[in-house]
Amino acid sequence: MASIRELPATISKFERIGAHTHIKGLGLDENLRAVKVKDGMVGQEKAREAAGLVVKMIKEGKLSGKCIILAGPPGTGKTAIAVAISKELGENVPFIQMSGSEIYSTERKKTEVLIEAIRKCIGVEVHEMRKVYEGEVTMIDIRTAPHPYNPYQKIPESVRLTLKTKDEEKTIEAGASIAQQIIAEGISEGHVIQIDAETGRVADLGLCLEGQKGKTYEVDTRKKIPRPNGKVLKEKEFVYMLTLADLDELNARQRSGGLFSLLLGGAESKEIDSEIRMAVDQQVKEWVDSGKGFIHPGVLFIDDAHLLDLEAFSFLGRAMESELVPIIILATNRGVATIRGTDIKSPLGFPLDLIDRAVIITTEPYDKESIKEILRIRSNEEKTKLENDALEKLAEVGAKSSLRYAVQMLSLAAQNAKSFNREKITLEDVQRVDELFMDVAEASEYLRKYEEKLLVH
Ligand SMILES: Nc1ncnc2c1ncn2[C@@H]1O[C@H](COP(=O)(O)OP(=O)(O)O)[C@@H](O)[C@H]1O
Ligand SMILES: [Mg+2]
Repeated sequence: MASIRELPATISKFERIGAHTHIKGLGLDENLRAVKVKDGMVGQEKAREAAGLVVKMIKEGKLSGKCIILAGPPGTGKTAIAVAISKELGENVPFIQMSGSEIYSTERKKTEVLIEAIRKCIGVEVHEMRKVYEGEVTMIDIRTAPHPYNPYQKIPESVRLTLKTKDEEKTIEAGASIAQQIIAEGISEGHVIQIDAETGRVADLGLCLEGQKGKTYEVDTRKKIPRPNGKVLKEKEFVYMLTLADLDELNARQRSGGLFSLLLGGAESKEIDSEIRMAVDQQVKEWVDSGKGFIHPGVLFIDDAHLLDLEAFSFLGRAMESELVPIIILATNRGVATIRGTDIKSPLGFPLDLIDRAVIITTEPYDKESIKEILRIRSNEEKTKLENDALEKLAEVGAKSSLRYAVQMLSLAAQNAKSFNREKITLEDVQRVDELFMDVAEASEYLRKYEEKLLVH
């Protein structure tokens, strides 16, 4: 049994402050009324309340076959509301964000990009009962034998282990593969381990709190856990969170596996064929029917959705009617636009039959007070402090050009304050970045001055 060990997903934490990390939900009260400032959300009450109703319908399974359209000028919180909707849907809900332009790739079909995005948005929670040997290692005896090709070298041949739980102590004997894993993982007496009875995979869970090592190594940074309860050989429930896309990939890899893939890395295919997807759907449905699996439909957010074309819209329309489908949210900032791939002008740039099956939520530009509040929340999120007149100035800039520009200026001003070793962002910092950078109106005005010179000498 080959042992392939997965590396822990988070080795060190790299904190990135995304534009929407401050959004924790829609900020509604129990009657689904928007509270002016709550969950990182500010103002935009109508849109938030509408979104709240939609979330309620989704939770009751009444929004199937429909999608949500968010329509509003740039920087009015369309993305923020989509993020909030996914937060309201719960912990394990996948959220995938893409732009309408992303479906145009030279390597893959448009529908393929959409199918993959849809499948990434459907979470599957799988519960599996597995037999494992589990306990604190109290005795370990690795037996070695001469290497078959090199008699001077010894290799592990088998291992005897005594495992101890709170209720039992048991000695087991295992073969070379487990012995090798134990050596490779540096497992010794005092560790709590888990061995999968079927696959022989060994997992080191940490040092045993009650064991000698767990007590003495005060400055040891390794994880310490209590000695397990119950029997050494037991059935344990494992829970995995996967998406349909993960399952597709696992399946595809298994199928294209074998010697060829080991030697040559396998034929990496850009597309997963529909047969695999059907098999995965079948499997997932069986898990759900037998109570082993639970489906968590997530949110697929397509920004600038007016960039999709007729073919993509019709594909989405069909997808909305299938069983395994996420919540689809389309955002646009166009009033009327030509539907791509046709010469038909249509509201929002979407075909009418799609609009017919959508609930439309509009967002409005912010007033200065809301902008100020959003900037205050953002500065908290970025862990910077702001003097009052600096905030005032930023809000002014935001009201004049755009909220997004003001949010950007905030980060730049924070950087400027840092380079002067200031704890708080002052008015001076804001004024400086305001001078150094331009908003779009200023930039285009600036270039227009030179355009004339370029055209006429
Ligand atoms: N109502 C709001 N409450 C708090 N933050 C908001 C709100 N609306 C927008 N934001 C924040 O302002 C910035 C711009 O909004 P965004 O959602 O990107 O606008 P849009 O998608 O409409 O262009 C983002 O950082 C967003 O998180
Ligand atoms: Mg956006």
